[in-house]
Amino acid sequence: MLAPKNQADGLRNATISTSNQFKNKKALRCIAIASGKGGVGKTFVSVNTAIALASLGNKVLLIDADLGLANVDILMGKNPEFTLQDAIFHGKSIEEIVCKTDYGVDFLPASSGERQMLNIGSARLNNIVNELLSYAADYDILMFDCGAGINQSVTSFIAAAPQTLVVMTMEPTSIMDAYALMKVAKQDKLSDNINVVLNMVRSDEQGQKIFKNLTQISKNYLCSSMNLLGIIPYSPLVHKAVLSRKPLFAMDDKGEVAQRLKQIALRIMGDHAVSIDEFNTEAILKGIMSI
Ligand SMILES: Nc1ncnc2c1ncn2[C@@H]1O[C@H](COP(=O)(O)OP(=O)(O)OP(=O)(O)O)[C@@H](O)[C@H]1O
Ligand SMILES: [Mg+2]
Repeated sequence: MLAPKNQADGLRNATISTSNQFKNKKALRCIAIASGKGGVGKTFVSVNTAIALASLGNKVLLIDADLGLANVDILMGKNPEFTLQDAIFHGKSIEEIVCKTDYGVDFLPASSGERQMLNIGSARLNNIVNELLSYAADYDILMFDCGAGINQSVTSFIAAAPQTLVVMTMEPTSIMDAYALMKVAKQDKLSDNINVVLNMVRSDEQGQKIFKNLTQISKNYLCSSMNLLGIIPYSPLVHKAVLSRKPLFAMDDKGEVAQRLKQIALRIMGDHAVSIDEFNTEAILKGIMSI
């Protein structure tokens, strides 16, 4: 392959050789967790839904796709030696960076505050994505915990994953930002499988009412419907779990929040799995490139 003249050329070259390499691999589910507004509970939902999915017998790989402000490791109570950035920039293999937990979930940690993507060559990016997908092929479920905002990294991971889960709270700012994200997803044809999780909800009735309004607006203006995957109540226990650097399930696996997370996991299981060779590898490349 010719040396790329610039980053865009590098990406184009990189995307050519990632297709059709995963034939005969089993189907898996792949979910991007996004929100628009920050701090609404994406990482909390990602980590704990991953654990709920693992308790249902699935092999789950959670990828910290918030490559700028990563914190899956914090909620998992781990101090990983290596991160995705070590794989991208320092030649570590995916196997070397994967972090095993006591909760039946493996995760790929990322580090915060590093922006050095400009120096990365297309060949290395190619290898990382190929290696990541080969590694992920052994799992039943792949999850991307995205960062906040509607930037290229987030939209790319949404395009890469066959299923999207948008987390929102009842605050008007969160609802507006989630709607804006859905609008972009619809207009740019990133995903036609958008699911909503309402988090930190004070009453189910309030949550249902807001979701009903949101779907109506979405039907009217975007000609698109969405699926309510679950409502998670506000609980001081969640905050306590974060302070203890533990997933909620490690503190209480029977309470209301845990039950709701298990329901969400069951609904995710209801969606169809996709063969890994149908994955949008180009979008994963773009997602990683956009840190
Ligand atoms: N159901 C809940 N009840 C109470 N507090 C919650 C709940 N869900 C999340 N929180 C609180 O919200 C805070 C933010 O959660 P989290 O870090 O998961 O959000 P995020 O969307 O991933 O943020 P970022 O956009 O920065 O990645 C947590 O520290 C936690 O204390
Ligand atoms: Mg987060």
